[in-house]
Amino acid sequence: MDDIKIKQAVKEHYAEVAVKGSSCCSPSTSGASTCCGDNVIDINSLVDYGALKLNVPEGAELGLGCGIPTEHAGLKTGNTVLDLGSGAGVDVFLAAKAVGSTGRAIGVDMTPEMIFRARQNAEKGGYANVEFRLGEIENLPVRDASIDVVLSNCVINLVPDKARAFREVFRVLKPGGHFTISDTVTYGDMPDDVRSSVAEWAGCVAGAIHQDEYIEIVRKAGFGQVEVLAQTDYDYGKGDGYGLASITLKGIKA
Ligand SMILES: C[S@@+](CC[C@H](N)C(=O)[O-])C[C@H]1O[C@@H](n2cnc3c(N)ncnc32)[C@H](O)[C@@H]1O
Repeated sequence: MDDIKIKQAVKEHYAEVAVKGSSCCSPSTSGASTCCGDNVIDINSLVDYGALKLNVPEGAELGLGCGIPTEHAGLKTGNTVLDLGSGAGVDVFLAAKAVGSTGRAIGVDMTPEMIFRARQNAEKGGYANVEFRLGEIENLPVRDASIDVVLSNCVINLVPDKARAFREVFRVLKPGGHFTISDTVTYGDMPDDVRSSVAEWAGCVAGAIHQDEYIEIVRKAGFGQVEVLAQTDYDYGKGDGYGLASITLKGIKA
């Protein structure tokens, strides 16, 4: 599968999710999900925003995350925050609340249907300090050194060129700024049929890479200090010598 085809499939998948208003990967009784393809695991259903959901407009949390990066991001009043692959806006709205009226939260997403939905949610919630921009993480529509904190939730795994994504994160961060990103990672060797499945790409599995490789890409982008803040292991593939986890990673731009 080439990168263009992958991105097109990802975009189509999330356009459908945006229109339907829920994750396509609903868990079946067997533990595998149905409409995303056989044996596709629904990792997103394991994230529970709990009472935090009450702080965001209804329909902003579509069950698409694999962590809660805002909980670990140390957001401060007045910060400018950027969320990569913002979906319907859940983490942008949580960030907007945390940074207050003197701060700003910006979401970027490549899927027009998601941007439309997120903007509707912002209007519903009457947010004056949020903005949603249509664009790609590999070419962020954001000025150099203008962001205090970059967030992202279960998205970089969907990006074929992860090195470019993290170079962009480095470019837009102010010196002393940091990212806090939740994402899927793998261990062991994933079988080729999983790696080449479009449904597994869209479901945040096939595009995930080894944790060590991930951290190496982050370091090469310029981040000297990198720390894993949280980890969840999934019951996926384990008996076959490979597996999937989600991590919440922090990196500081010195
Ligand atoms: C799994 S969903 C996560 C949405 C949101 N972060 C959440 O937790 O609800 C992935 C989102 O990332 C977006 N996305 C995927 N690849 C992208 C890219 N290369 N550039 C911008 N957005 C991208 C998709 O359109 C989709 O809205």
